[in-house]
Amino acid sequence: MSLKFKHTILLVDDEEAILKALQRLFRRDGYRILTAASGQEGLEVLREHGKPVSLIISDQQMPGMNGAQFLEKARAIYPDAMRFLLTGYSDMDAIVEAVNKGEIHRYLTKPWNDEDLPLQVRQALEQFELVVENRRLSALTRRQNRELADLNRDLERKVEERTREVQEKNKELSRLNRELEASLYDTVRAFASLAEMHAATLAGHNQRVSALAKEIASAFGLSEREVVSVETAALLHDIGKLGLNERILRYDTVRWGEEDRKAYRKHPEEGQAVVQFIKRLDHVGLLIRSHHERYDGKGFPDGLKEESIPLGSQIIAAADAYDRIVHLRVKAKVHVEAYLRAKGITLDHLPEEELLQQAAIHHLDQNRGTRYDPEVVQAFVGILKERGVQYRTERSVPLELLEEGMVLATSLFTKRGKFLLPYNTKLTEEHLNKLRVIHENDPLPEIYINP
Ligand SMILES: [Fe+2]
Repeated sequence: MSLKFKHTILLVDDEEAILKALQRLFRRDGYRILTAASGQEGLEVLREHGKPVSLIISDQQMPGMNGAQFLEKARAIYPDAMRFLLTGYSDMDAIVEAVNKGEIHRYLTKPWNDEDLPLQVRQALEQFELVVENRRLSALTRRQNRELADLNRDLERKVEERTREVQEKNKELSRLNRELEASLYDTVRAFASLAEMHAATLAGHNQRVSALAKEIASAFGLSEREVVSVETAALLHDIGKLGLNERILRYDTVRWGEEDRKAYRKHPEEGQAVVQFIKRLDHVGLLIRSHHERYDGKGFPDGLKEESIPLGSQIIAAADAYDRIVHLRVKAKVHVEAYLRAKGITLDHLPEEELLQQAAIHHLDQNRGTRYDPEVVQAFVGILKERGVQYRTERSVPLELLEEGMVLATSLFTKRGKFLLPYNTKLTEEHLNKLRVIHENDPLPEIYINP
């Protein structure tokens, strides 16, 4: 192993001849040699030299400070420097003590062997290099560990920051999305309300079918999104009837001509056409298209059968049939008679509305597996029976008692029939102020609020 550094060796002896002899011996190895004639001078050289000294060789027998004492002090100045004590045989006690105290690494006896001494010096310098290298590597490792810890901390902080940023953005996005969705459904409700205006006979029908369909869809465990689709499709299911004449809208089927029948059968497709270009409503369009399909495949427009009919459409079909009998009273007499006949009686003591409800349930039950999906009927009838068929729970509130945050149960029109707000609108301070102004000129009728 060759030495890596240019080493400095300090020689301390009061005999100049010895200093000279050692100097000669080491010079050929290329070391930088410093000399001192006493321990005191040796310490001064160490303090003044400035550069590290790798090896100190000191004579033991010197006036004033002896070699062991000097090396002990030198150790305090250069702890890493190798220390050799040069001594005669008579100084054994001093040597043993110095070795034991760890102040010297080696002792040399006078006279020394010119072959051995350079070798011993060289070995000592190799050891010195190892110590220095070891210290350097330890310091490097410590520094790198510190840097690594700093980097890790920095990275963790950055990751936290990024995560926070992404979470904030996500929150903002979902808020925007909710707003967008809410405004879309506001528009849909306004749209549905306007459609009802067109035909007084249909008033409230879409809303009621929508409320029922939503409940049935929820009972099927559909996702929130799917439930909203069914609810929206139900609200718009007859939008394709806009423009049809009163005769068709009143289900005055006896007076229907061939043209009327054809026009009526087209309304599911017309309805789909109305919404199909609204991006977020395209799936709603499909549900609208199939709301007159029958479970047995005899419906229209596509003659779809059983499971090939979308579940949402089957749900709307059942809710639509129920509301047509109970509230629109389409063929009410026929349905009531069928119900009474099935019960084996000619008259029922039930109030009219309840009688119609029972007749509607009977109709659904009788047509499960033909017109209607048996599972949908089962879920629907279950819901109706569970709450005694009552599902209108809105209350009427006078204008002066309306408050911010109340939700309209029905669409709001003035008494003269001017459309103001769709149902399900959450009233704001601005709404209330406008309604009060409108009421002065064009009075408002009763206002229904959700419980
Ligand atoms: Fe319809």
